[in-house]
Amino acid sequence: MMEIVEDIAELRRRRLQWRGAGERIALVPTMGNLHPGHLRLIREARSVADRVVVSLFVNPMQFDRAEDLAAYPRTLDQDRRSLEGEGVDLLFCPRTPDLYARDMGQMSYVEVPGLSATLCGAGRPGHFRGVATVVSKLFNLVQPELAVFGEKDYQQLILIRRLVEDLNFPVEVVGVPTVRESDGLAMSSRNGYLSEEERLRAPALYRVLEALATRIAAGHQELSGLERSAMAGLRAAGLTPEYVSIRRAEDLDLPAPGDHRLVILGAAWLGKARLIDNLQVER
Ligand code: PAJ
Repeated sequence: MMEIVEDIAELRRRRLQWRGAGERIALVPTMGNLHPGHLRLIREARSVADRVVVSLFVNPMQFDRAEDLAAYPRTLDQDRRSLEGEGVDLLFCPRTPDLYARDMGQMSYVEVPGLSATLCGAGRPGHFRGVATVVSKLFNLVQPELAVFGEKDYQQLILIRRLVEDLNFPVEVVGVPTVRESDGLAMSSRNGYLSEEERLRAPALYRVLEALATRIAAGHQELSGLERSAMAGLRAAGLTPEYVSIRRAEDLDLPAPGDHRLVILGAAWLGKARLIDNLQVER
């Protein structure tokens, strides 16, 4: 039976009980509108821990003006149904005033320097501060031994690893590969913003990144030329690219000649949807 908890005191009581029994807890933070990508994270959590807590909270602090908080899909009944049968012990749905008691500008926050400002952070000021802050709060509330995140949001995953290291959170961060549609499009709650016609064009982002990965793996050295040609490829497919960038997989720094593990990241607009994707590549 999956328990649904809104109240922080109730969450803490359950947490203490589990700790008393020596059980290991994994947390899977989400904003709901769950799809098979989220479920893959939950299965991973199930396989590494005794208890699985899924949090569902559409975090106002991480929305910038470019994306409307009010428009974000909220599908709690459907989400609850898709979690039944996944072996989730507790669904934590905190109330907004319990997490943000004051105006957003008056709240304490967590900032990960550098990583917050690059790539997606450049186009979405304040976004990663919101992510780092809410994830820190969830870690403090749930106190999990493990926390599971998707590689789909690669920059977010790297930022959370850094946050855990910098602030000494006693949490092991587990990354899970991206779950895709059959045509390659990375699953995302935001794909629902696409029209039928846009949905057909959307896999161009994945295809363009894949073409770069092939060339890098084959020994192509001139990375900024590859980035430019990928941007042109996205425009030709009718997308409006924000960036395509080849970085060091470990920390998203610019790659030096001796770096072998790279990641290609891209973000592009298609109608009302901002799509992101990434691929890791060895050279
Ligand atoms: P949300 O977009 O709901 O994603 C929740 C988790 O699911 C994230 O770790 C994300 O990387 C993962 N995920 C999403 N799509 C995926 C896919 N196609 N394959 C694999 N994993 C996927 O990311 C957030 O929420 C928020 O920023 C959050 C971390 C909850 C903080 O508010």
